[in-house]
Amino acid sequence: LGKTIVHKQVTTSTQHIAHQLARDNADHGTIVVADEQTAGKGRMDHTWNSPKNKGIWMSLILRPATLPYLAPQFTLLTATVLADVLTEETHTAPKIKWPNDILLNGKKIAGILTEMQAEQDTIQYVVIGIGINVNQSEQELPADIRHKATSLAIETGRTWDTQKLIQRILLTFEQAYDHYLKNGFLEVKHKWESYGFKIGETIRIKTMRETWRARFMGIAEDGALLTKASDGEMKKIYSAEIDWFKQ
Ligand code: BTN
Repeated sequence: LGKTIVHKQVTTSTQHIAHQLARDNADHGTIVVADEQTAGKGRMDHTWNSPKNKGIWMSLILRPATLPYLAPQFTLLTATVLADVLTEETHTAPKIKWPNDILLNGKKIAGILTEMQAEQDTIQYVVIGIGINVNQSEQELPADIRHKATSLAIETGRTWDTQKLIQRILLTFEQAYDHYLKNGFLEVKHKWESYGFKIGETIRIKTMRETWRARFMGIAEDGALLTKASDGEMKKIYSAEIDWFKQ
C-alpha cells in the first residue's frame, strides 16, 4: 500500500483523480493525497469542505478479489482503521456512526466515501476516500455545519502533523487489510461494534421513502445496519441516514 503516492497541491477531488488513475490501470494500493480540494465530495451528493493544509484529503485505490456485494466491508474496515489511529496517536475516544462517520465528542471529524467499479461478479477497483478535519479552528469550519462537525485541533486544543497521521493510517490500513483477507470479516465486525455509536439504543432511520424508529442491534456480515422493531422484527438496512433523540 502506498508504493505509489500521487501528491497534488490542489485538485478538484482526489476521488476524481483516483478514478482516472484506476481506469489507466494504476496498481492496487495507489494513493492520491491533496493539500486542498476545490470540489471535495461527500456521501449522498454532499460537498466536503477541504481547505488547504487543514486536513487529510486522500483516496486509496484497491483491487480486491472479492465479490462486489462485499464492498461495504472495506468501508467498515476503513472506519475501524481511522478509529484505531485516532485512539492510538491522539488519545481521543472516537466513535463510529453507521455507516462510516467518525465522531469525537458526538461531532463529526471524519468521513469515508467508497466508490466501486464492478462488472457482473468482478470488482474492477474500489476507491476509498478519506477526509479528516485536522487543524481547522471553529471559525474555519463552514457555519452551516459548525454545530455538528469538529476537527482534531478543536477537540484536543493543539495542532497535529498531517503527514505523520497519513503514514500511520497507511501502515495501520495495510495491516488491517491483510488480516481481514486472511481471517475474514468477523473480527472487523467486532471491532467496528466496539466503536459503534448508539448500539442498543433506539435510532431514527431515514430513507428516501420513509422515516421510522427501531433499535440499533449492530452490523451484519455484509455491512448492513441491523435493526429490531418494537414488534421484534429484525431488519437489515443498506442505505439510509440515521440519527437519534436527546434523552
Ligand atoms: C462523507 O462523510 O460524506 C464522506 C466524505 C469523504 C471526503 C473525502 S476527502 C478525500 C476524498 N475526496 C473527496 O472528494 N472526497 C473524499
